[in-house]
Amino acid sequence: MTSAKFIVFEGLDGSGKGTQIALLQRALTEKGYPVCLTAEPTQHATGGLIRDALGGITKRTPHELAALFLADRIAHCENPADGIRAMLEKGTTVICDRYYFSSLAYQGMDIGLDWLLPAHVGCPAIIKPDLCIFLDVPTDECDRRISAGRSSREIYETRESIERVRRSYSEVFERLSPTHNIKIINAARSPEDVSWDVISAVGEVLGI
Ligand code: TYD
Repeated sequence: MTSAKFIVFEGLDGSGKGTQIALLQRALTEKGYPVCLTAEPTQHATGGLIRDALGGITKRTPHELAALFLADRIAHCENPADGIRAMLEKGTTVICDRYYFSSLAYQGMDIGLDWLLPAHVGCPAIIKPDLCIFLDVPTDECDRRISAGRSSREIYETRESIERVRRSYSEVFERLSPTHNIKIINAARSPEDVSWDVISAVGEVLGI
């Protein structure tokens, strides 16, 4: 048994996950907690196939894309060198930028949850997170942040997609809240105010 926890960040594109993850990492490191940061899609081979599809370089059907994310996630959990399970077993708390809630929200809005949900929650290789933090930002604000930060947009970054994904996340959280620890945090505030809530949610899980 170890006290290490598995914490997942979710949010729309432009919701500020990167900033909040960095602030959380700093806070936990200062308190002496070993922490590792990771993200999906991963930097491994399947992650590369996914990035090509997201960038519009390769065309994939929604089912194909969902299966690629699933395979990438299984490898992410199980990789013996630096996988999520290996890190947790070493006593390192894992903070992951996106996880299966993203597949359920993004791919689920196109293909439904009929096979996608059991494929994730029923797969013994896929680790259930101790906490999922959703950084909640209104569609218009995400749209504005994406415009300010980039010259091009990925397939899910059009304003219409952002709105659909937002609705899809709500449905997923409604469905999973009885079995998962999900904290929805209003992230349309200053990074410091948001971080305060993030650190307190994580503190509850870590018992600090
Ligand atoms: P990326 O630019 O890597 O990161 P982010 O937007 O989180 O900073 O984009 C990842 C994209 O992949 C994002 O649009 C959400 C999407 N995605 C899915 O559609 N399904 C998934 O399972 C995951 C993990 C991500």
